[in-house]
Amino acid sequence: MEVIITSGPDEIAQIGADAFCHLVDRKPDAVLGLATGSSPLTIYDEIVRRYEGGKVSFAGASAFTLDEYVGLSADHPQRYRNVIAAELTDRIDIDPTRVHGPDGLAEDIPAACAAYEAAIAEAGGVDLQILGIGTDGHIAFNEPGSSLASRTRIKTLTAQTRVDNARFFGGDAEAVPQHCLTQGLATIMEARQLLLVATGRAKSEAIHHLVEGAVSAMWPGTILQHHPQVTVLIDSAAASRLALSDYYRETYASKPAWQHF
Ligand code: GLP
Repeated sequence: MEVIITSGPDEIAQIGADAFCHLVDRKPDAVLGLATGSSPLTIYDEIVRRYEGGKVSFAGASAFTLDEYVGLSADHPQRYRNVIAAELTDRIDIDPTRVHGPDGLAEDIPAACAAYEAAIAEAGGVDLQILGIGTDGHIAFNEPGSSLASRTRIKTLTAQTRVDNARFFGGDAEAVPQHCLTQGLATIMEARQLLLVATGRAKSEAIHHLVEGAVSAMWPGTILQHHPQVTVLIDSAAASRLALSDYYRETYASKPAWQHF
């Protein structure tokens, strides 16, 4: 696991955008794994800047989002399909018909989840998955207690996650849907490369467990310790509980140029 303790949002945006842009440069038909939440936003803005500057094209790429609320109407602004379109995919040249998300309006939810897994597999699997992390350690919507071997399925959000996400629903935690569909931990682990982004002190406990804690379903993000290609991109506040922070800083400062994204 590579831990990069950055100087803040600008550096996170540059490193994250490098990862996506260099990927589509070398593999124009890459499969992108996209995440909602506030953590990836500076990266998405930087990707859009580079696209508008003619430096990168996503015309051959496809994308899969991590998760979706159950029951939000097709035009609801917080439906993750609409969120990711507004934040990224409608602002670049990716073909909208190749941007996929779990169907939170499906009548047959298990069938929709199985179809989503099949679609990812048919596309050849995700090349690069960006991830945020919840304050309770969830990745995508895999809440504490999620099976480390889980696949795309329905989950019940914790009260903490509904409170955390209430800011997107006018501050009303009750307005946050109680159920969601989410890629499972095993689904996420099949992406070839993972980039997890977190900033702020509120994430420091989750980052502490993710990087230096024991692997446990109680802190679902810890499963990433079993993935061979993970970069954890954080600021110093999110890094504030890491025991080996000096080592991570030294390692990144002396990283060979050929190893950069
Ligand atoms: C939501 C999303 C996650 C995201 C998490 C953290 O619950 N489903 O994918 O990682 O929130 O969000 P933020 O980046 O806004 O802190």
